[in-house]
Amino acid sequence: MSSTAWVAGLDQQVPEDVARLLTTVPEWFAQPDSNEEYIEAARSKETWTVRNDEGMVVGVTLIDRHFPHVAEVHLIVVDRSVHGTGVGTAMLRAVEDDAVRRGVRLLQVKTLGASHPDPGYARTRHFYERWGFLSLEETALWGEGTPCLIMVKPLPAS
Ligand SMILES: CC(C)(COP(=O)(O)OP(=O)(O)OC[C@H]1O[C@@H](n2cnc3c(N)ncnc32)[C@H](O)[C@@H]1OP(=O)(O)O)[C@@H](O)C(=O)NCCC(=O)NCCS
Repeated sequence: MSSTAWVAGLDQQVPEDVARLLTTVPEWFAQPDSNEEYIEAARSKETWTVRNDEGMVVGVTLIDRHFPHVAEVHLIVVDRSVHGTGVGTAMLRAVEDDAVRRGVRLLQVKTLGASHPDPGYARTRHFYERWGFLSLEETALWGEGTPCLIMVKPLPAS
């Protein structure tokens, strides 16, 4: 499928789909406790998805809203079989369009920082940078050995 064909939208909660998608990307999501937390979060958090022609969920983004002026990507995960085909970008575009309409001024995401050598997360950071996220700070929020990079994207006033 071409990268422009995917359409993302606000959806119902899909914890079972989150559980399934996480199993397709064990290099990024290998910790059972943290995966359980994401699945639990998927039961209540604002959920954006991309579905394929059969209606199956192939990408999920969960959003946190700490303040009215900021939206945080709590989780973004795409089925391994369709990586690189525009699913993640379609979800960020939909979240951002909605954010601008609501007067949100900042998108935020936390990911593994570059001081960790993981090659998969290097691609993840590239994905965010490509969409306009800027590195703000690398912190020890997640403890030693797991550098947490906070990234933000300023949005235009609506
Ligand atoms: C990161 C992720 C959400 C991106 O979604 P996607 O649908 O694969 O990405 P898109 O097709 O919309 O965008 C492609 C761009 O992202 C980059 N990218 C990042 N991770 C990638 C991956 N695993 N596979 C393919 N492309 C990836 C590509 O390099 C490409 O940029 P380029 O054209 O300049 O090379 C998805 O690959 C994924 O689920 N990765 C594993 C989980 C993860 O990293 N989650 C975020 C944790 S903070």
